[in-house]
Amino acid sequence: MYVCSCFGVTEAQVKQHVDDGACTPRQIASACKAGTDCGSCVRRIQAILGRGACPRREAADQGRPVLTAVADLDVLDEAA
Ligand code: FES
Repeated sequence: MYVCSCFGVTEAQVKQHVDDGACTPRQIASACKAGTDCGSCVRRIQAILGRGACPRREAADQGRPVLTAVADLDVLDEAA
């Protein structure tokens, strides 16, 4: 079923972007343009986002840093 008819984006595609780490309508738009034309699908995208767990959002809600999984600082030291 299409979520965004302007760009032919399906619910399955939006869910795949969520699985790949998208947590906001803006991140979905960056991935597939859904929501960037008429905007009538943004509420449906928000509803899909609301169903899934988002580890980064949960961390932010708890006041924890959201990018801590990134660093292997030894690699950064070697590059400097
Ligand atoms: S239906 Fe998604 S931008 Fe128009």
